[in-house]
Amino acid sequence: MIVIIGAGAAGLSAALAAAGDLRIGSEGLTGSGSAGPDSLPDGPKVDDVLLVTKTDFTESNTYHAQGGIAAAIFDDDGPDLHAQDTLAAGDGLCDPKAVAILTQEGASRVREFAKAGVRFDRDRQGHILRGLEAAHSRARVVHAGGDATGKVLELDVAEMVRENPRITVMEHAFLKDLVIRDGRVAGVRLLINDHDSPNSAAANSTDANNAAEEPTAERQRTEEKTIPADKVILATGGAGRLYPYTTNPAVATGDGLAAALRAGAQVADLEFYQFHPTALAVGEHFLVSEAVRGEGAVLLDEHDNRYMTKVDPRAELAPRDVVARANFRTMQAQGGRPVMLDVSPMRRENPDLAAFLAHRFPTIDAYTRSLGFDWSREPIPVAPAAHYWMGGIRTDLFGRTSIPGLYAAGECARTGVQGANRLASNSLLEGLVYGRRAGLAAVRDDLSHGWAFNPEPFRNSAIAGMPVNQQPMVLKTPTLPEGSTVDPWGRDRIEQEMWKGVGLIRDADTLDATARSLAEALATANAAIGNANAAMVTPTTTANESGHITVDGTVTALENRNLLTIGYVEAVAALNRCESRGAHTRSDFPQINPSLAHSVAYRLQ
Ligand code: SIN
Repeated sequence: MIVIIGAGAAGLSAALAAAGDLRIGSEGLTGSGSAGPDSLPDGPKVDDVLLVTKTDFTESNTYHAQGGIAAAIFDDDGPDLHAQDTLAAGDGLCDPKAVAILTQEGASRVREFAKAGVRFDRDRQGHILRGLEAAHSRARVVHAGGDATGKVLELDVAEMVRENPRITVMEHAFLKDLVIRDGRVAGVRLLINDHDSPNSAAANSTDANNAAEEPTAERQRTEEKTIPADKVILATGGAGRLYPYTTNPAVATGDGLAAALRAGAQVADLEFYQFHPTALAVGEHFLVSEAVRGEGAVLLDEHDNRYMTKVDPRAELAPRDVVARANFRTMQAQGGRPVMLDVSPMRRENPDLAAFLAHRFPTIDAYTRSLGFDWSREPIPVAPAAHYWMGGIRTDLFGRTSIPGLYAAGECARTGVQGANRLASNSLLEGLVYGRRAGLAAVRDDLSHGWAFNPEPFRNSAIAGMPVNQQPMVLKTPTLPEGSTVDPWGRDRIEQEMWKGVGLIRDADTLDATARSLAEALATANAAIGNANAAMVTPTTTANESGHITVDGTVTALENRNLLTIGYVEAVAALNRCESRGAHTRSDFPQINPSLAHSVAYRLQ
């Protein structure tokens, strides 16, 4: 059995691939006889899957994605053009091979999912509609439900998963840690909210700490269970909850990335965190899709000046990092007040603007109106917010990580496709393509023949022949000096420190100070959780800070520890990269440094 943690685009694709659902493509199934960077070995083609999700089955970053999926499926386009745009946005750090796979296989995946019934928006003749987004040289972003692409994709693909008898879904199960034995994956340790997950897989599992306990009628408490597995795919998504302003849902706390770090896996590119330029600046930082600018919306400062034309020839459709920085700096110059997004230019082609907005962007339209805005008549206030992590667990082209038996796909992985700055609408695509690859590899890989982790070397495109150190930098897991006590940090403190110290624009002094204080807070959290485990403290049931996850108070503490773990490594990686590149902006090193055109791997010890 293969265990998959996370049920967004990557987790669902991995599950379908591992369970042998041929609706998502048959290429790659013939095998090549040997496991290598470009091919899968011969072997079985199908396995049973346990798909574990932290809350409800379909709650994920994918569910909340708006704009769409970039795919070179139209006549005036091609995977090479799409790859060129992806490489340009990635600012010298993408792996061209990984990108070529993304754009070529991506087109196939989108066609197949459309054929399998995913309800992409179509015109009256049945042709798939497309939008334009920033830094794309072609309109190639397919969408669904207007601006509810992620939701439609998630629900439609989840239905395919539900229909597959080989896949068991376990909801409300939190990944506490990976189990590593003899240097390879041996299973996962989960905190399961029995109230929602009375499922046979859980009931049949090896229960490390509560062997004698049977689920009870009320089942309002959490149990820790160990599920044995020699293949685990992490598809746990992102970690926007590191920051106070984020487009990400409450579940995005980087649990898989943190567990992989604790297990000693290599990670890379963590200094590259993408801030979306336009989240609504009131209420929840609700995403206002880039597709809105793709349809013609412009950005204005508080004096109604359109500033993006002075920043970049592509104006509002410059790459995301460029627009996010310009918005941030404009806000700084006007005392922190938000910039304004003005959709009135769309009126030229859509005289009934209110009707057009309600049809093309129903989700954003409903949300803004619920807050009292009529964006067909007045600009709306927007600001940058944490959105997507380019970095993650270092993988090869089949999702294999540096730990035998452990795979990663989607936002938690660093495949090399996103580089220093992700091109808009490439994230769902990455989930579909590399989730499937990881699922296929997990079925095929025979660990008794060794582990074929064979990542693409980090490249230095700018200086031919320059050797790039492939060895991970080892960071010691912070510990507290004997006898010292530090107050544990709550979520607010983590978010505020990250925003101030490891936010959109960084410098050595604040990064250094923040890395040190994150290290201390992480050591405190590790000590507290270690003590709780040692004392066999039975968790009690409480809502967590978001009120969204009804697992228990312990989950909040574990999520906070996860955020501290990954925030600490992000801060160190950002401190070490003395240049500005893509989404990583250093005020003390404002220029790109060609000699740094390569990634760096890190590992916690
Ligand atoms: C958006 O709709 O602007 C977000 C899409 C993405 O992050 O790629």
